[in-house]
Amino acid sequence: MPFTIAIDGPAASGKGTIARALAERFGFHHLDTGLLYRATGVKGGDPIQAARTLAEADFGRKDLRTAAAGQAASRVAAIPEVRQALLDFQRGFALREPGAVLDGRDIGTVICPTADVKLFVIASDLVRARRRAAELGADVDAMLMQLRERDARDAGRADAPMIRADDAVLLDTSEMSIEDAIKAAVGAVEARL
Ligand code: C5P
Repeated sequence: MPFTIAIDGPAASGKGTIARALAERFGFHHLDTGLLYRATGVKGGDPIQAARTLAEADFGRKDLRTAAAGQAASRVAAIPEVRQALLDFQRGFALREPGAVLDGRDIGTVICPTADVKLFVIASDLVRARRRAAELGADVDAMLMQLRERDARDAGRADAPMIRADDAVLLDTSEMSIEDAIKAAVGAVEARL
């Protein structure tokens, strides 16, 4: 059986960095599931059709990291048929040998409820806004507003809301260096290997 690591949490919490580091460390595949929703959001036209016809080339595009793509993603992510259309690909990815790390909002709750390790990564709103503003060269206050709007939509939607699974390890990276956050995540995985 492949080993599955599920990582969830809000934008700029550090979950992507942690997911990449774990995948590299343990030789696992990595899927940033936010890219699926971003690619669906920016494709235009009917979002359900866009999700159904999404191909790997679509979410491998380099221009999906913008704040606008994040907002578009969170709007289409509230549509149950869009989530349904992206489900099988994510579940199939999680079965890749020897293991996989998936990060998103509903991995530990919906996509991989029986994952071997679940992490829920958080950080304070201000820390996340500062990180994302630095990454994108944007204004901290504007970023704070955008992140709060997106978190509220992601946590408040009826279908697969962003929520910590009961058995997820909570990791607050607000006051942590990247190195320490990765160390804590590696420790959580090694405890279950
Ligand atoms: O993680 P990222 O910021 O790239 O995700 C963009 C948006 O995609 C999120 O705000 C959320 O609305 C949606 N998403 C989701 N479920 C996931 C991953 C992302 O609803 N598993």
